[in-house]
Amino acid sequence: MRFKVTVVGAGNVGATTAQRIYERGYADVVLVDVVEDMPQGKALDLLESGPVLGTDAQIIGANDYEPTTDSDVVVITAGIARRPGMSRDDLLLTNMRIMQSVTEQVVDYSPNCIIVVVSNPLDAMVQLAQQVSDFPKERVVGMAGILDTARFRTFLAQELNVSVTNVQAYVLGGHGDTMVPLINATTVGGVPVSELIEAERLEEIVQRTRDGGAEIVALLKTGSAYYAPSAATAQMVEAILLDRKEILPCAAMLEGEYGISGLYVGVPVKLGASGVEEIIEVELTEAEGAALRASADAVQELVDVMAESGK
Ligand code: NAI
Ligand code: 2OP
Repeated sequence: MRFKVTVVGAGNVGATTAQRIYERGYADVVLVDVVEDMPQGKALDLLESGPVLGTDAQIIGANDYEPTTDSDVVVITAGIARRPGMSRDDLLLTNMRIMQSVTEQVVDYSPNCIIVVVSNPLDAMVQLAQQVSDFPKERVVGMAGILDTARFRTFLAQELNVSVTNVQAYVLGGHGDTMVPLINATTVGGVPVSELIEAERLEEIVQRTRDGGAEIVALLKTGSAYYAPSAATAQMVEAILLDRKEILPCAAMLEGEYGISGLYVGVPVKLGASGVEEIIEVELTEAEGAALRASADAVQELVDVMAESGK
């Protein structure tokens, strides 16, 4: 029997995430969107690639949640995306309403699923999904750190002309301007990156990483990044379905770890069949610890705005 994965939001990130999961062959996929016929069309198109790819997995599109019943994992990408000039935070109140209604329906049909949130502003949206679902914190997790880290690794590999696979790094914190690349934990072939790249140049690469989403928005003009985000999301889904117990930077609910409580923030976690199976506490320098707490404060501000708007 194959796993069942639902992807809510059949736009750029949702459709490419569905494609990546479908093509791996171990999960049937349901693609849900409010736009009539569109998820059905994309799903049928993907299904018709099956004979060429040699996958027998099934994929269907829907405008309601009945076909999503008893999904193992539900990925939520529903919402509006950034346009030039918009920050991720500008999406807050619109995506909050969408996240609330989507989560309620997801829970009704898949009460035992693991929810992976992608919609922005990511940390606030995953916090909301956990509150609305009332799922244990382990079963609600957000995607951002893998993407931010992948961007950092890409730029470092380009700079040093080495394989991306040789660059080990973590970008923690909220998915925003306050994200925290851990320079001390970044190595290239086992060598600390600070021994390979001068501090000033390294800071430029860190800043490009922080601006990574905006760089793509400025180039695309009509939407935001989706190839790298969907690759990152599919990695999380796979870690859960295949119980890989992979250590990945994800947005997880902290309860005292890193000195932060009651808030979703990007940290390394062990991701497996139960969802977030462990929060990994890596040693931070004083400056990194302070930056992580500042990043958490920025997430808290958004959470407070959501709470205020709901009154
Ligand atoms: P998109 O605009 O291409 O797709 C969004 C889809 O959501 C649309 O098809 C829309 O019809 C659908 N939708 C809206 N309301 C819905 C509802 N109530 N139920 C079901 N579907 C609904 O946007 P894209 O590029 O796919 O981005 C999706 C979200 O993911 C955005 O909020 C974006 O900012 C975020 N994002 C987050 C990343 C991260 O690292 N966490 C990376 C990239 C995007
Ligand atoms: C990104 O980082 C928009 O959050 C999205 O590309």
